[in-house]
Amino acid sequence: MRIKYPSQQLKKEAICIKVFSNKKNQSFKLQQNTINAIYAGKKTKRMENNWYNKFLADPEHTGTIHHPVSNFIYSFELSQKVLSAKIKITARGIYQISVNRSHITDHKFLPGWTQYNKRLFFNEFELKTLLQDGRNDLEILLADGWYAGFLAHYGQPEDFKIAPDLSLTLEITFADHSTITITPETKGWQCANDGPIRYSDIYNGEFFDFNDQFSNYRDPILHDNDLVPIPSDALPIKNIEKRMPLSITKIDDKKYIIDFGQNITGSEVLEATIPLHQKVILRHAEVLNFDGTIYTKNLRKAKAETILIGDGSTIAYQPTFTFYGFRYIELSGLDKFDICAQVIHSEIKRVGDFSCSNILLNKLYQNILWSARDNFLDVPTDCPQRDERRGWLGDAQTFIKAALYNFDLQQFFSKWLDDVDLGCDENGAYPNIAPNIGQICAYFGQAGWADAGIICPWNLYLWYDDIRILQKHYQAMSRYVRYQEKNSDQLIYNKAQFGDWLNCDDPTSNELLGTAFFSNNAQILTKVATRLKKTEDAKQFAELAATIKKAFQKRFLNSDGELIETSQAAASLALDFNLLEQDFKIKVAKKLNESVVKNQYHLTTGFLGTPHLLYALSDNGYVHTAYRLLTQTTRPSWLYPVIMGATTVWEHWDSISEKGYADPKMNSFNHYSYGAVADWIFSVAGGLKTCESHPGFQRFIVDPKIDACLKNLNIGYQTKYGKIKIRWYQKAEKCFVVEITVPENTECLWQNNEILNPGLHKKEIMQ
Ligand code: BGC
Repeated sequence: MRIKYPSQQLKKEAICIKVFSNKKNQSFKLQQNTINAIYAGKKTKRMENNWYNKFLADPEHTGTIHHPVSNFIYSFELSQKVLSAKIKITARGIYQISVNRSHITDHKFLPGWTQYNKRLFFNEFELKTLLQDGRNDLEILLADGWYAGFLAHYGQPEDFKIAPDLSLTLEITFADHSTITITPETKGWQCANDGPIRYSDIYNGEFFDFNDQFSNYRDPILHDNDLVPIPSDALPIKNIEKRMPLSITKIDDKKYIIDFGQNITGSEVLEATIPLHQKVILRHAEVLNFDGTIYTKNLRKAKAETILIGDGSTIAYQPTFTFYGFRYIELSGLDKFDICAQVIHSEIKRVGDFSCSNILLNKLYQNILWSARDNFLDVPTDCPQRDERRGWLGDAQTFIKAALYNFDLQQFFSKWLDDVDLGCDENGAYPNIAPNIGQICAYFGQAGWADAGIICPWNLYLWYDDIRILQKHYQAMSRYVRYQEKNSDQLIYNKAQFGDWLNCDDPTSNELLGTAFFSNNAQILTKVATRLKKTEDAKQFAELAATIKKAFQKRFLNSDGELIETSQAAASLALDFNLLEQDFKIKVAKKLNESVVKNQYHLTTGFLGTPHLLYALSDNGYVHTAYRLLTQTTRPSWLYPVIMGATTVWEHWDSISEKGYADPKMNSFNHYSYGAVADWIFSVAGGLKTCESHPGFQRFIVDPKIDACLKNLNIGYQTKYGKIKIRWYQKAEKCFVVEITVPENTECLWQNNEILNPGLHKKEIMQ
């Protein structure tokens, strides 16, 4: 029997299981792992009290960037046999903890990135095996991280200051069941900042001097923080994959260019003997200049470099507190070295696969997977390389379905969505970025960005059938729709700060974008309220959705039932967000098709229109046009970057053109937003859709839209029941065969009208 339990962690001692039966003398046996399985739940008072609200900080940290990384040390003697030694630790900043010089975990960048002024995670580790008789040293390196580094200073006044701090409780239980507890208030803590990491910063990189050792220890300061840390629900961030160089080229007597063949997020591992006081610099870049040197202008203010000062010894070094977005490294200062790269991101499990007869499309798919991995480092980010790397909501909502088809992201997105809610302003408007850190995001309630607060939980529910995600976010979701209602003019909502971001000279008005997303939100809320059995709310949201639709039509349709705005995005949103009556749909879809055909099968949409464009076409009779767009290779198109050698998804349709690189003020080569097309590939080309009445793929819809642009296509999706496989191929000129594998305990709704039971099924589709 599996029982769902409220999501937050629970202390073992807080668990009480009562089992009732209507049969007399019925006995129950709890299985061994039962307690572990329910080791989740609410924070208890006792646990709160376990946290002393004192944090340790380095008195010499000036609150500015590039401060040396501090080491906090506590030494203690042990003479008895230890039964257990549990540490709970948190920080504002990022830390690495070791006992007797051994790292206690391979998790990186702990405790991760949250809305630090509202919630802070702690992690718990068992240290018993690392302890020894006699003297023991507990050491914690503390770096600025997201909390106090350049990222936090960005956009702040010159005199802005912020410094990291940490807190912990270490409880050691001895064989005689006596215990000792070490906290920040325990006498004996020391800290120093004259060690080898002269600075480490997420944007700028790490500076490591092998000649320096921590020696000038002094008392740390203790200060109060009333925020009670909560158990981390983040996926661990780790070194995930090692990559060897594709080539190493010497470009002058002092410099090498190392090509890893793939744009990744991570860092290098360098093995070399660095002569005493020799400076070695490793600079990171996504692309090269035409002369073979690295191109770093698009990193803007992020220095993204590792600097090492040798002491004559042989080292194996990977930066501890930073990461880079790069394919190339320029290394100077060494002639003999071994180098590899480590891909770093949250430990997300791959669940989807796709391949087809078009090799360029296959490569596009690989690029999309890479951009997802590269941007899923604790928070879903816009890009991993420049002075940005933030949790932009717009990017996440465009990409979420594509991501869910390919990775198990239940935990990853659940964690982030808590910060999305916490970032709301006092009126209930969602922020542009989460965690929302100060000056950089003074705007709230912007169309296409704020809406992630509604679109993402709804999709998580559809994918994972976890009603708790809706329960948890319902208040914020409904509050935002009410906010939009209040802040609209006769239901026309016009806050859309970024427009159809990065469209190709085919803009859409703020009013249209704002109202389309507002309507979509009201439609989602109707379904959410229904699921939560809030009948009155559901009725109200349904009425609201219907009146927004009318207002939309009144404002944006002319007397012939055509949209008064001619952008491809306007038509795509109107169609895909179900804002039109059937007759008008036909007209608007026809115009959209004409626009694409007239443009020689090129799109003109930006971040907001693009995810809806192919759906708007294929759902309204223009499947072939959708395939032509998908397989287009000239600019602007999805396959153009592939032809140009991209290994990840670009921020712009023309990040590289015959004119060279696009404006470095904003030109990332690793932005997943346009990779949203993978959701159309899975749900329309592959035909696999979630079923709203049976979320979590217990029942799923298969209804592929096939076109002879492709000869065959395969997709796979690993559900919790087993793997769904869909494969179609051309059998004869106008005949395609579709094979569907339906896993045990699920059922498939074929073309919305026939139930297929578990097993392999074959269907024919005539073109
Ligand atoms: C980011 C985007 C983001 C945007 C807001 C950019 O600088 O990189 O991806 O959504 O700002 O328009």
